[in-house]
Amino acid sequence: MYNIYGKIIGTGHCVPDNPVPNKYFETILETDDEWIRTRTGIESRYFSTGQNTSGLGTKAAEYALKDAGIEAEELDMIVFATISPDAFMPSTACIVQKNIGAVNAFAFDITAACSGFVYALTAANQFIKTGQVKTVLVLGGEVLSKALDFTDRSTAVLFGDGAGAAILQKSNEPGIIQTYLGSKADEKNCLFLKALPLENPFIEEKDTKKGIIMDGREVFKFSTRIIGEALDKALEGTGYTYDDVKMIIPHQANSRLIEYATEKKNIPKEKFYLNIDQYSNTSGGTIPIALNEVRQKKLVISGDLILLVGFGAGLTWGSLLIRL
Ligand code: COA
Repeated sequence: MYNIYGKIIGTGHCVPDNPVPNKYFETILETDDEWIRTRTGIESRYFSTGQNTSGLGTKAAEYALKDAGIEAEELDMIVFATISPDAFMPSTACIVQKNIGAVNAFAFDITAACSGFVYALTAANQFIKTGQVKTVLVLGGEVLSKALDFTDRSTAVLFGDGAGAAILQKSNEPGIIQTYLGSKADEKNCLFLKALPLENPFIEEKDTKKGIIMDGREVFKFSTRIIGEALDKALEGTGYTYDDVKMIIPHQANSRLIEYATEKKNIPKEKFYLNIDQYSNTSGGTIPIALNEVRQKKLVISGDLILLVGFGAGLTWGSLLIRL
């Protein structure tokens, strides 16, 4: 068991073909490009014109399978991290399974908000280490535009749509070296997205509020603290230091937040990969999209050490140290 690792052998991502620059929000809200750009680092995002989360996930999965050079029939397991599933049932993972023809896999979704992909990759790695499966499709992605309140400037400008995928395969060569997960009840409900409203013939008061509810300052405080803590945990006891790590892929929530956290930890800024300018916050999608980009751009190559760190609603957080 100790010489078995989950190793990333392929990645892919997909966003809708409808980029929406900050300027769009100037036409519907009291906001401007300058405010959004300077507070968050976001310049644009993609909004669906018809694709649901499974559609983006299916494309990302097809690209990842191609990159890995394997067929869908070789998958034993599919796990999809999302907070914007197509449906409560079936799972989005099962819909992707049908779309790609992964007839030998079992499939399920994971809900851990912006930490979702980190949770899903960790779960997949555990299934591999116990010997139950050999090859796993791990997805993270959202169509958050369907959940946004387009009258609320404090949240509508922050989120976008997109999905990413990674294929994790059993290997005797180091792959995922260390994982760390955490969660803590969000006592103040500082990040909240309602599912179905509580409604039936016996309930008098109707709850009609839509959208993401967020206390930006509270989330900012939590995130800047937890990023450093989680990164330290992924390295703890491994003998590796930040100097050994080629690249850190953080959940893309806000570039200012990442900068603040890195300054606190004294880690060179260049080690952090940021693409929030193009995609905004796609929750479960940010880390696998970024992971695919750094591989495609050859910013990392086989053998490099990378760190992933996620944090978000729950509150949840987590990190992984990975040898590519
Ligand atoms: N355009 C213009 N003004 C806006 C705005 C927008 N899109 N959104 C909010 N404002 C206003 C507020 O109404 C407030 O106005 P007021 O002072 O008149 O009340 C002012 O800007 C300052 O709001 P505040 O919330 O203090 O701004 P901030 O500097 O904390 O920045 C965030 C707001 C959301 C960018 C910041 O808190 C943040 O990034 N938090 C973390 C969010 C996050 O990462 N969430 C996902 C985690 S997974």
